[in-house]
Amino acid sequence: MSTIKAFDLKEIRRGNKALESDKTLVDSLAKASLETMTLEEKIEQLHGSKGSGDMGTEKGLYWSGENSAKGIPPFKMVDGPRGLRAGFATAFPVPMARGASFDPTLERRVGMAIGEEVAAAGGNVLLAPTVNLLRHPGWGRAQETYSEDPFHMGLMGLAFVCGAQNFVLASPKHFALNNLETTRFEVNSEIDERALHEVYLPHFRRSIVDGCAASIMSAYNKVNGTYCGENSNLLEKILRDDWGFEGFVESDWLLGTRSTAPAINAGMDIEMPAAYWFKQEKIEDSVAKGEILTETIDRNVLRVLRQKFAFGLTSQISVSKERIECEEHLSLAQEVAEKSFVLLKNEGVLPLKAIQNIALIGKLAATENLGDRGSSMVRSTHVSTPFDGIENWNGASFTFFEDAPESDVLEGFDVAVVVAGYTYQDEGEYIPTLNKESSGNDLARGGDRSSLRLPIDQEELIGAVSSRAKKTVVLLETGSSVNVYPWIDSIEALLVIWYPGCEGGKAIARTLYGEVNPSGRLPALFPKSDEQFGEWDTNAKEVKHGLFHGYRYLDCKHEKALFPFGFGLSYTEFKVKSVFVNRKKRHFSVIVAVSNQGKVDGDCVVQLYVSCLNSKVDRAKKELKGFGRLSLPANEEMNLEFEVPDSDLCFYDREAGWVLESCLYRFSIGFSSEDLPFSQTWRFEDTSWTKEA
Ligand code: BGC
Repeated sequence: MSTIKAFDLKEIRRGNKALESDKTLVDSLAKASLETMTLEEKIEQLHGSKGSGDMGTEKGLYWSGENSAKGIPPFKMVDGPRGLRAGFATAFPVPMARGASFDPTLERRVGMAIGEEVAAAGGNVLLAPTVNLLRHPGWGRAQETYSEDPFHMGLMGLAFVCGAQNFVLASPKHFALNNLETTRFEVNSEIDERALHEVYLPHFRRSIVDGCAASIMSAYNKVNGTYCGENSNLLEKILRDDWGFEGFVESDWLLGTRSTAPAINAGMDIEMPAAYWFKQEKIEDSVAKGEILTETIDRNVLRVLRQKFAFGLTSQISVSKERIECEEHLSLAQEVAEKSFVLLKNEGVLPLKAIQNIALIGKLAATENLGDRGSSMVRSTHVSTPFDGIENWNGASFTFFEDAPESDVLEGFDVAVVVAGYTYQDEGEYIPTLNKESSGNDLARGGDRSSLRLPIDQEELIGAVSSRAKKTVVLLETGSSVNVYPWIDSIEALLVIWYPGCEGGKAIARTLYGEVNPSGRLPALFPKSDEQFGEWDTNAKEVKHGLFHGYRYLDCKHEKALFPFGFGLSYTEFKVKSVFVNRKKRHFSVIVAVSNQGKVDGDCVVQLYVSCLNSKVDRAKKELKGFGRLSLPANEEMNLEFEVPDSDLCFYDREAGWVLESCLYRFSIGFSSEDLPFSQTWRFEDTSWTKEA
C-alpha cells in the first residue's frame, strides 16, 4: 500500500528565493551600498514615498526607498491575501476558505500565483499572508486569515510565504494579536508570555524560521500596553533574538507608527505608506539629540538593503502582464474553491440530479460576492456567480427568484437552492466611509460582527423557503463561523462556500451536481449559540488573551460544537483502518491507514491531536499537531505518514523557555476535533519514551 507524507517541508520550500540567496554575498553588497550613503539617503530607505510611480492609486503600488542615483531600487508594495490588489487580477477564494482545504501544497501554489501577478504588475513586496489567529469568529477580518488553530495556521501561512517568495518578498501580517477590527487603532491586547508563545505566535514563527519571510508588517493595536509599532519585546526580543529574523519590519498603514525614536530603536524599519514620524527632520533631530544612535539607523537600513539584494531587485526581472488572470491562475482559483467548500449537512439531497427542477433563490445567487472591500479587495474581469455556474451547467433545469416564491410556485420544484450569507457590508476590514454602497475601486464598510447570526433578512429568506419547499439546500457565503443553529433543522443540506473567488460559480455547479466531491473541513468551529464562545465586545479597548479559545475553550467547558473544528462531510465515506505510532530519534512517526468505503472517489483530511494527560500546568485538552489530505479512489486504501517532533509537544515556561515535560502524551487520530476513534498513549520520563499498555 502506498504511503504519502502528511506534510512535506522540502516541497513547500521549493523555489523560495530567500532560502536560495547567498547570505555572505548579500551582506557584503548591502554593507558596501550603505557606506556610500549620506544620512539623508539612509533615512529615505526608512519610509514610504511617492517615488517616481503612483502611490495608492489605480496602480495600487506603495513605494519606499527609491535611490536611482545609487542604483537602489524601491520596494513596491501591494496587497494582498486573496490576490493582487491593483487593477484587475485573479480573485482567489478568501484565505479562510483556503484554510478549509487543509492543503498547504495547494496554498503554496496560490502564494506562487499571487506572487507572480504582483510581479507582473510591477510590484515586489506582497502584503500577505494575514496570519492573525481567529480568536473569535466575529472578527471583521476573519476571512483574511486561515484558522482558529495555530498549528493549522502555521502550515498554511508558511506555504503561502514560500510560494509567494518564488517571485516577490512576502510580508506576513499583522504582528501581533490583531484580532478585533472596530477598535484596532487603540485596543490593548493583554497576554502572558505562555499564551503569546504557545497560541498567538507559533504561526508567525513558522513563516519566519521555516519560510524565511523577507519582511513582516506590525499591527495597529497595543500588546501589553505598548503599540506593536514600538514594541521591542515583539520586534527585537522575539522576532530577532529568539527567532533570528533577518528581514525588515514595516508598519501597518497610517496609524501603524506612533513615534520616531522609540519606534526606530524598538526595531521598526520602514514607516508606511509615507513619512510622518520618520521624516528627515524628525529623525535627524533625534540623532542630533542622541535619542537614536547612527548605528541603529545603519542597522535598520541594512535590514532593508539586504532584502533588496537577496531578492535581486537591483537587476530588472520582469514577469509578463499576460500572467495576470491567465488560464492557469483562473483554473487554480476554481480548484481551490472546489477543495474549500464544506458540506455540513446532507440528508440525501446532494448531489443534485440533472433531471431535477431547481428553484435558485436569493439575491446573493446573482451577486459578485468576493469578500470585503478593505485592503484585501480584488477586482476580477469576470466573476462566475452561483447563478452563472448553474446556468452554464449542461442540462440544469432551474428558475431564479430573488425572494422566496409562494408555496404553490415552489411546489413545482424538486429542490430549492438558497444562496444566503454576508457581504462586505456585514464584515471585513473597517473602512468608515460615507458611501455604504461602495463599488468599483471604493473601499467601504466591513467591521466586526457583533452577532454570529445571519442578518435578519437572510434568516427570514431561509425560513420562508424551507417552510414551503420540498427540499432546501443552503449555500452559505461567509468569512468564518456562523450561528446556523436557529435554522439548521429546517433544511436538508448546508454547503459552506465562503467567499469563493472569481471562479466560484463553476466550482459550485460542479459540487452541487456531483462532479466534485466536497472535501473542505472547518478551520473554525460552528457553535450551538453565540454564547458558546464567551465574552465578545466589538468595542472593547482592552482584551485579555489566554490559552483557550475556539475548540480549546469548548473542551475546557466540556461542551460540544454544533459542527466541530475539522469537520466536513463527503459524498463518500472514509474510515481509519489502523494507526501505528513509532518512536524515532527526536520525533514520532505516525502511520495512518485510511480507506474510502463508498462508491465515489474523494479527498479526506486526516487529523492528529495530542493531549498531555497529567501535566503540571494548565493545558488544552487536545491540540492539533498534524493534518494531511488524501485523494482516495472508491474502495481504495492508503497510508498517510505524520511526523510529530518533540518540540511540538512542549509548553512554554517564562524562565526555562520550551519544556518537554515528563508526563503522558496521547495521540488521537480521526476526522475532526470531536471524531477521534484511534488513540495511543506514550509516557515520557526523564529522557526516555515508553508506550502505555
Ligand atoms: C491594513 C493592511 C494593509 C495596508 C495596506 C492597512 O490598513 O491593515 O493589512 O496591508 O492597509 O493596504
